[in-house]
Amino acid sequence: MEENKRIPAHVSIIMDGNGRWAEERGKERVYGHAAGVESVRACTEAAVETGVRYLSLFAFSEENWNRPEHEVHTLMELMVKAMKDELPVMMKNGVRFVVLGNRSRLSPSLNEMIDGCMEETSANDRLVLIIFLSYSGKWDILEAAKKYAREIVEHPERRDSLLAMGTDGFGRYLATDGIPDPDLIIRTSGECRISNYLLWQAAYSEFLFTDVLWPDFRKEEFRQALQEYAKRDRRYGKVK
Ligand code: FPP
Repeated sequence: MEENKRIPAHVSIIMDGNGRWAEERGKERVYGHAAGVESVRACTEAAVETGVRYLSLFAFSEENWNRPEHEVHTLMELMVKAMKDELPVMMKNGVRFVVLGNRSRLSPSLNEMIDGCMEETSANDRLVLIIFLSYSGKWDILEAAKKYAREIVEHPERRDSLLAMGTDGFGRYLATDGIPDPDLIIRTSGECRISNYLLWQAAYSEFLFTDVLWPDFRKEEFRQALQEYAKRDRRYGKVK
């Protein structure tokens, strides 16, 4: 298969356009989010089938808390339902489930559910599915800086080596510690911006912007994105 030539290890998706998809059909916005869950399932399956090792999805940003209460509530309910419904499928497909973000803002019941799902899938090793929930790139960098500063203060004996640390070392303080930076970041729905997503980790990511709305982004679109990625020439600032 054409796309097997250069498979990205980590594909990350900014899922956008659920609201417009619903409005185009004269439905409430939340109807689009429900349809978006089907795309989550399709892309997870496609990632397993194509040999992608990490699939991450921007499900809810820190800024999304400012949406109408009804929409926020429905999104959280959808997460709970999706976790319940998909757990057996994740176990069958060898998917490890991880949630990253400011979890202090999530309800205790949702946090409990997330912990259970993460624990149960922790030994799966075919695909790591990372859901960014209540996440923002600036929040992540700020939290990392606080941890770093705290370590310098609490461990004066390590002060010099900590201050001499390079960017790879600092990256280990981020929420994504242990996860390779995304090779490919896809944003659906025609918007061409990063919206406070993986600001640090996207330093050398390839970007793909598509007009397709998230509920219409399924296996075929995922495979096409991988084909497009395979054509890219990544130079990391060097001359080849
Ligand atoms: C963006 O569309 C989408 C979201 C803010 C939420 C994405 C969430 C899901 C697909 C559901 C649950 C996810 C998981 C992981 C099970 P938008 O509302 O900004 O669309 P618009 O730009 O057209 O208004």
